[in-house]
Amino acid sequence: MSSVVEVGIRKKSFTSLTLTNQRVLVRVDFNVPFDKEGRITDDARLRAHLPTIEYLIKKKAKIILIAHLGRPKGQVNLKYSLKPVVQPLSQLLKTQVSFAEDCIGPKAYEGVAKLKAGEVLLLENLRFHAEEESNNPIFGKEMASLADVFVQDAFGAVHRAHASTTQIPAHLPTACGFLLEKELNYLGKLKSSPVRPYLALLGGAKVSDKIGVVEAFVDQVDVLFIGGAMAYTFLKAEGFDVGDSRLEPDLVDFCKEVVEKAKSKNVRIVLPSDHLVVKDIENPAESMITPGVAIESGWKGVDVGPKTIDVLKPLILSAKTIFWNGPAGIFEMAPYAHGTMEMAKTVAQAAKLGATAVVGGGDSVAAVNKAGVANQMTYISTGGGASMEFLEGKDLPGVKVLPEA
Ligand code: 3PG
Repeated sequence: MSSVVEVGIRKKSFTSLTLTNQRVLVRVDFNVPFDKEGRITDDARLRAHLPTIEYLIKKKAKIILIAHLGRPKGQVNLKYSLKPVVQPLSQLLKTQVSFAEDCIGPKAYEGVAKLKAGEVLLLENLRFHAEEESNNPIFGKEMASLADVFVQDAFGAVHRAHASTTQIPAHLPTACGFLLEKELNYLGKLKSSPVRPYLALLGGAKVSDKIGVVEAFVDQVDVLFIGGAMAYTFLKAEGFDVGDSRLEPDLVDFCKEVVEKAKSKNVRIVLPSDHLVVKDIENPAESMITPGVAIESGWKGVDVGPKTIDVLKPLILSAKTIFWNGPAGIFEMAPYAHGTMEMAKTVAQAAKLGATAVVGGGDSVAAVNKAGVANQMTYISTGGGASMEFLEGKDLPGVKVLPEA
């Protein structure tokens, strides 16, 4: 029987279920970004589910996809409709996907009743009903009544205890899809048996968003680089001036404790040794590289400097396992993207040399795309919050409810 490993627990794979001619409800994560014209700007999350959907098509299942998009707060708001996903998904699957304007009730039933074996139906945004996020059991039961079988494939959403992640399995034979299986296997290996040295690269705006993962990494990795605005609070904790850079004063003590704990565990914490600084973020012309770690009053850090990159490169290239989440600077603005781009390219180089390089969701995925090295990474997780919570060691409610193999 095919199964997956979730830190030692074997979860049942959907390939072991009876699928042919069955109505198969599949929870996917189609939470994709759109531009102002309503076009999808990154279809990675659609592509990531193709193996599961294509397998179901081949098995001649009647496929019902459920998903959320954005945070419409329990109200019908067509800005968050999943309808614009229908055409791109149809093109990727090379088959016309149908659409129902609700995920429960008559419209959903009607759509499902029309489904023939091997056809695909997408239901409207789950979050148009407040019951999805309030984890309402009746709402979960209503969705389950549309189908014979449930497949959980939405890795990006399994850290949420919502009706579509935790209630449906109580009513239907349930198992996990290929994407969820792949995510749990890759991230599970990072947690249980990383080839050493293991380097984690953390960045992004706030320490407060990453407290759990910072704490967990001190127990798991050999080297932890902290970049992005997060670094300034760590540098403050180490006694350096950080000028007018973004700072979380409440977390200075936390950062001190992390550094102490890392020392006691022989984990090397690497912080930027220089910075690109500006007076005004909107005015990149007035910028300079600091001569050292400290930042003078009136200046704000916006990227790491060349000395930091010189320190980072050999660390990245000698690592055998690399996990990256969060940029080294404000990379969305071209003048401040250099450090993050160099990081992305060097991680790709390390992967070429045989390291396992895993990119965990969100901004870092955008960064590897921008650097043109996405296809050189060993694995790019589709889950931002979910991958962080998994590596932190938190229970993922949507995984916990899945039956073991
Ligand atoms: C994500 O984008 O990380 C997932 O789709 C979850 O979305 P959420 O943070 O709105 O729950």
